[in-house]
Amino acid sequence: MCGIVGYVGERNVTPLLLESLEKLEYRGYDSAGIALVSVKGIKIQKTRGRIADLRKIVEDSGESECTVGIGHTRWATHGEPSDVNSHPHLSRSGRVAVVHNGIIENYIELRAFLSTHGYSFSTETDSEVVSELIDFCYAGDPVAAVRKAELQLKGSYALGIIFADFPEQIIATRKDSPLIIGVGENENFIASDIPAILKYTRDVFRLDERELAILSKKRVAVFNELGERVDHAIEHIEWDATAAEKGGYPHFMIKEIMEQPEAISKTIAPRIDAEGNILLGFKSISDDDLKNIDSIRITACGSAYHVGVVAKHLLKNWLNIPVSAELASEFRYDDPIVNERTLVIVVSQSGETLDTLYALREAKNKGARTISIVNVVASSIANESEEVLYTWAGPEISVATTKAYSTQLVLIELLGIRMAQLRGRMDDEQGKALVSAIKSIPTGIEEILKDVQTVQYVASLYFNSQSVFFLGRNIDYALSLEASLKLKEISYIHSEAYAAGELKHGTISLIEEGTLVIALCTYRPLLDKMISNIKEVKARGAKVIAIINNDDVQTGTVADHIIRIPACEQIAVPSLTIVPLQLFAYYIASLKGCDIDKPRNLAKSVTVE
Ligand code: M6R
Repeated sequence: MCGIVGYVGERNVTPLLLESLEKLEYRGYDSAGIALVSVKGIKIQKTRGRIADLRKIVEDSGESECTVGIGHTRWATHGEPSDVNSHPHLSRSGRVAVVHNGIIENYIELRAFLSTHGYSFSTETDSEVVSELIDFCYAGDPVAAVRKAELQLKGSYALGIIFADFPEQIIATRKDSPLIIGVGENENFIASDIPAILKYTRDVFRLDERELAILSKKRVAVFNELGERVDHAIEHIEWDATAAEKGGYPHFMIKEIMEQPEAISKTIAPRIDAEGNILLGFKSISDDDLKNIDSIRITACGSAYHVGVVAKHLLKNWLNIPVSAELASEFRYDDPIVNERTLVIVVSQSGETLDTLYALREAKNKGARTISIVNVVASSIANESEEVLYTWAGPEISVATTKAYSTQLVLIELLGIRMAQLRGRMDDEQGKALVSAIKSIPTGIEEILKDVQTVQYVASLYFNSQSVFFLGRNIDYALSLEASLKLKEISYIHSEAYAAGELKHGTISLIEEGTLVIALCTYRPLLDKMISNIKEVKARGAKVIAIINNDDVQTGTVADHIIRIPACEQIAVPSLTIVPLQLFAYYIASLKGCDIDKPRNLAKSVTVE
């Protein structure tokens, strides 16, 4: 999604903004721009395309020495990617420039309103209305103008704003869209995400909902909605900038696949004591509350939702209560029936996915108990849920998630096991045996990652496929959803995940000579059924790659290729099965020469509906 940066200090701001914007490229964007402010006024440079295109424009125009500015990478929502639709937007008067992340839902009404006051618009964007509205509200006091304008804005926004009359400051504010403040010596920053400014400062804090910050070289003053001064504790970022660099790998995605053993170990370590007991560390939700829960609804988007689909099967069996996995964008508008005995688990890497955030709010408003599983500390979802379990996957830069998915999966498993123990559905020993199997997952994944040749080889045979079907049953079907998403999002090959038993109810008509079918055959209770399904597609000309358990001696006799996962306990199987499928997607995309870390049209953090 769109990225925002802003700087006020003593450095030449242009190269700093361009470099910081480059660090946000992973979020996905189609155009970029910067606005500089000095006593001479506001200067805007923006273009459709990459930061490299913007850099060229800036260099060709001759550098201006300025020390205050804002920058933006745009991911088009309203209006095509074009120079004019790019941010920053400068009010016609030249007094106010704005970068915006989010969606202004009432922009059509606001345009109409401003038009009656002589304002006109040159872009198709919702964001242009913000600069003009602030301009309309401006009578010499920037903060008053921003606050007055905000009263009329509906939707979501993170805003960086500069005023020609106040060339030594930036104003920032937000609602339902993240924004962080970076604090330095004689310099301060705004950014959508930490990697943008990590080179310059490790001291950051997150702006809370509807807070407004005034940044000048010497200080950052933050005010809440009521205009009261707010003090934020500074978070010192421990992770090294290199954690957000490729470290010798050609892409972030493969680096992050390789990091999975470590990420899982780091995630589970603080949750398991020396005796194998699970430590949830909850403060608001007591053990009694967890005993009284009579249904669980897991809600999330994309891969995080797919974690929920796997967990649904496990938790339902362990707890013997209804457990559902639901897309957050559907859940929030479906008038969900929940109460204080419903546990809603939200899962999100970024902690900022708007649909997931709104689903969480919907659940809370209706009285459900809420737990989030989140990677980004102090993100909106983490802050707003009753309890949060952090995945310690470290920064995930590749748009296609891998290590966040894997860490979410083990964490939700630990939550389910602990609940089963509390509810007397699992005795201590059973729980500890599962915990011990979860602790062995990193070693199993390491084994897979040591030998990637088989996956590379099959990828080399099929990277020209037009269409791929992933089949599985039960948990294997849940994993198929993720494997299919992984492949299609980075390789642009059409792919579908099908519950294997459903195929013959229509989709089998698409199977023809040479169609690639990837059959997930690790769910032991239904292996015979899967073998029959493989025979059905083979009979219609499909080529089949089967992912199988180490001790499976049957499937290899019907499939064209097999990929074995190492021997492991049943609970570890899903965590291991997904890894060759992530690798398969990666190698296919790599052979096709795709822009793996920044697939077209996609964004890392989806902060609009
Ligand atoms: O940050 P979140 O986990 O809430 O993001 C949810 C989805 O947008 C995300 O998982 C998306 O599907 C990934 N691109 C998949 O690789």
